Amino acid sequence: MPANLRVMGSPKTYFTSKGEKSARNVTPKKEDPMLQVDVETWNRQYGRGAWSYLSDLKEVPRYAIQASWIGHLQNKPSILDVACGEGLLVPYLRFIEYERYLGIDISEVAIRAAKMKEDDRTQFLVEDAQHYVASAKYTCIIFNESLYYFRNPVELVRHYCSFLWEEGIVIISVFLSAETKGLVPRLRSTCDVLEELTISNSRGVWETAIIRPKKFVVPR
Ligand SMILES: C[S@@+](CC[C@H](N)C(=O)[O-])C[C@H]1O[C@@H](n2cnc3c(N)ncnc32)[C@H](O)[C@@H]1O
Repeated sequence: MPANLRVMGSPKTYFTSKGEKSARNVTPKKEDPMLQVDVETWNRQYGRGAWSYLSDLKEVPRYAIQASWIGHLQNKPSILDVACGEGLLVPYLRFIEYERYLGIDISEVAIRAAKMKEDDRTQFLVEDAQHYVASAKYTCIIFNESLYYFRNPVELVRHYCSFLWEEGIVIISVFLSAETKGLVPRLRSTCDVLEELTISNSRGVWETAIIRPKKFVVPR
């Protein structure tokens, strides 16, 4: 996914592929996200269709595998899709009798498009996922090509795990690039991995996995 957002320059100047300079043209601090994009840039990019390629054939496998995993593992799941964009996962969930789906995203332009998919069990909200506090628990939380936009992805996953029911799962997908390649190993060291799969096509390579927070074992 970051295919559309390359990080270039020295020292660390951030641009989108269309040459837009990020608002934060500075040397990143240790806690800065791997890829930095401010909300105005997200809105502008969604507005001019820069992310519409996420609907094309090359992206089908990751959405399809995530929906299949949920359908296989959970009966009547409740799903929180963090940084859901235009809600492109939702059509893949139509074969699953999910109880509830909530997609949140910081871009109001993306959420406006996503809202076309709303129904009595499917809802979208504009929220900054960095600070979002869920008012309900979920059986499945999804970070689909979004974790590397957050300051501390491992901490973020841990924070969201507090909104999971016991035996709940987290599904991640990470497009591999120079900036993101360390992320999945870092998550693997703090979580149990139930299943993982590498998807590869002419667009690139995605690592996708079902993870669960490691169980805290009371020391004897
Ligand atoms: C590459 S897109 C992926 C969209 C969607 N998950 C998908 O796979 O179709 C990354 C998304 O992260 C969202 N995002 C970035 N930072 C965010 C934040 N702090 N809170 C919520 N959403 C955020 C962007 O608005 C964008 O929609």
